[in-house]
Amino acid sequence: MAYSEIISPPRHAQTRSRLGTTVGFLLVLFTCNVRSAACSLSNIVLILSDDQDVELGGMTPMTKTKLLIGDAGATFSNAYTATALGCPSRSSILTGNYPHNHAVKNDSLSGNCSSPLWQKGPEALALPVYLSKLKYHTFFAGKYLEQYGTKEAGEFAHVPPGWDLWHALVGDSHYYNYSLSVNGKEEKHGDKYDKDYFTDLILNRSLDFLDKRSPGQPFFMMLSPPAAHAPWTAAPQYQKEFSDVKAPRDGSFNKPAMDKHWLLRQPANPMASSSVDFLDDAYRKRWQTLLSVDDMVEKLVKKLDDSKELNNTYIFYTSDNGYHTGLTFSMPIEKRQLYEFDIRVPLMVRGPGIAPKQIVKAPVLNIDLAPTILDISGSDLPIMDGQSFLSQMVSFAPSLRNGTSRSCFLVEHTGEGFPVSDPACPKLGPGVSQCFPNCVCEDSYNNTYACVRTLVGNNLQYCEFADNESFVEVYNLTSDSSQLENIVKKVDPELLQAMNQQLIKLQSCAGSSCHDNGVNGLCQKSTK
Ligand SMILES: *[C@@H]1O[C@H](CO)[C@@H](O)[C@H](O)[C@H]1NC(C)=O
Ligand SMILES: *[C@@H]1O[C@H](CO)[C@@H](O)[C@H](O)[C@H]1NC(C)=O
Ligand SMILES: *[C@@H]1O[C@H](CO)[C@@H](O)[C@H](O)[C@H]1NC(C)=O
Ligand SMILES: *[C@@H]1O[C@H](CO)[C@@H](O)[C@H](O)[C@H]1NC(C)=O
Ligand SMILES: *[C@@H]1O[C@H](CO)[C@@H](O)[C@H](O)[C@H]1NC(C)=O
Ligand SMILES: *[C@@H]1O[C@H](CO)[C@@H](O)[C@H](O)[C@H]1NC(C)=O
Ligand SMILES: *[C@@H]1O[C@H](CO)[C@@H](O)[C@H](O)[C@H]1NC(C)=O
Ligand SMILES: *[C@@H]1O[C@H](CO)[C@@H](O)[C@H](O)[C@H]1NC(C)=O
Ligand SMILES: *[C@@H]1O[C@H](CO)[C@@H](O)[C@H](O)[C@H]1NC(C)=O
Repeated sequence: MAYSEIISPPRHAQTRSRLGTTVGFLLVLFTCNVRSAACSLSNIVLILSDDQDVELGGMTPMTKTKLLIGDAGATFSNAYTATALGCPSRSSILTGNYPHNHAVKNDSLSGNCSSPLWQKGPEALALPVYLSKLKYHTFFAGKYLEQYGTKEAGEFAHVPPGWDLWHALVGDSHYYNYSLSVNGKEEKHGDKYDKDYFTDLILNRSLDFLDKRSPGQPFFMMLSPPAAHAPWTAAPQYQKEFSDVKAPRDGSFNKPAMDKHWLLRQPANPMASSSVDFLDDAYRKRWQTLLSVDDMVEKLVKKLDDSKELNNTYIFYTSDNGYHTGLTFSMPIEKRQLYEFDIRVPLMVRGPGIAPKQIVKAPVLNIDLAPTILDISGSDLPIMDGQSFLSQMVSFAPSLRNGTSRSCFLVEHTGEGFPVSDPACPKLGPGVSQCFPNCVCEDSYNNTYACVRTLVGNNLQYCEFADNESFVEVYNLTSDSSQLENIVKKVDPELLQAMNQQLIKLQSCAGSSCHDNGVNGLCQKSTK
């Protein structure tokens, strides 16, 4: 199925170019000169939190964000990451491509995270590059990629192309005691709340950008706070919040997982009570750190309103991947698994033409963010693996609303491990990583898998592992939303075969061959 057949048949092509160049224009028709650049381009803000789940209540503490973005626009109830790990997911967001096409395998330099090969290849064709060509004023503040700023990745001096203003964290998430690259120069921070708390600093730099920007030029801002990633350091005023809160105890909490892949079969069941205490503590601290992100959203929206830009600005709120604290069989905390709690993410968007209080059920992926943002910017869409979901949101184009409801998508993960045994856990042997007390390791080389997830029609997940059991897991999410039972031995062999074929196609897809409109789509066979 060609890209053009899916989103730009003649009628759509016409509407899409109208949408593309004039999402703002239709609304400002009476106040602006037709086709004046300043009127036709909307501003775009992308807020990307870190490790924030949606399945286990990750959005619950963010009451202001839900009000100011979700209730003011669209909340996507089926938003997913194509991979549940930071650097590969962030690379997907920046490029609009599945991990097998941007070739970022894991969070290490050797896995291409911010590596010189990434810089020469995918980074040179990433979202900000296109926006900058369209004369957007581009601003970044926050965590970029896990290996950003390391020696091998060019240190502070490397400012990725397309960004006019750059305030990026060196390395992985920190709240205090970190270094930034500020437009290519090192800036060191200590641990004074008023000067250094990283979430607040990102907000302050953003407000400063909005004060100083050139009026009339459209802007793109990407804000990427460290919350709710470890080490979960809350702002002082929030450190006592949620003292009664505990991780949810329903679903797969503390359930055995003997019908699942090797890694899930290792931990003792039930978990030690010390692990339960540990995960409850993590759950509370994660929520506390998110309160500062909630404040950030509130202050940013207020600033946009005060400067009369709010009605011409799209604001996206999402996270790089989900996370589990508890609800995961016998695994205390982490991501990297194929289950819903790790692959589902929050996604809310407000902006011109998006009616308030919409719940959008169509499945959307992190690889769709770049094409959607480019669609808003009026760019001629470059071919990416993802597809624009603008038409799912804008109320003045109801004919296009279900245009890109894909029938299936790919989730892929390359397991991380270490070649030597974890000293705390020699019995598991080499090849594992992310080990917690009691020998619960949350990743391993052979936790390498790819899944087809369908939602339209059948609500199924089919996953194959690259381990030496060639392990397969299949879930019927309609009857078993907690993924307690692997039904691989019960399911119709023809369906298994069809899903295996779809998986093979998706694992080698690129650009338009990854696209799917849910009608004649890739996974039509299994969605009858
Ligand atoms: C790193 O990226 C380059 C270019 O994108 C690719 O050719 C190479 O295979 C990648 N390396 C790994 C380990 O995936
Ligand atoms: C920051 O670093 C200083 C000096 O190494 C240390 O004393 C302090 O405890 C650190 N603060 C935090 C919050 O980690
Ligand atoms: C952010 O700005 C506010 C208001 O000016 C100030 O009180 C706060 O200390 C600043 N925080 C940081 C980390 O810069
Ligand atoms: C936004 O609102 C202001 C008044 O607050 C108005 O002048 C402007 O035309 C509006 N812009 C859009 C895109 O609706
Ligand atoms: C599009 O969605 C509407 C409901 O929002 C539904 O009535 C209609 O049948 C859908 N059209 C297609 C082609 O799926
Ligand atoms: C990351 O990926 C690279 C390339 O596949 C691999 O060599 C390396 O061992 C991986 N790192 C970890 C920690 O698994
Ligand atoms: C997975 O890797 C571990 C550690 O290397 C090994 O002990 C185990 O046998 C492997 N399991 C499978 C199913 O490949
Ligand atoms: C399974 O894979 C692990 C490494 O991932 C290896 O150590 C082990 O010998 C393999 N077992 C079999 C039966 O192939
Ligand atoms: C999934 O469960 C639903 C509800 O029980 C059932 O109707 C459907 O046939 C099941 N699908 C498969 C493939 O087993």
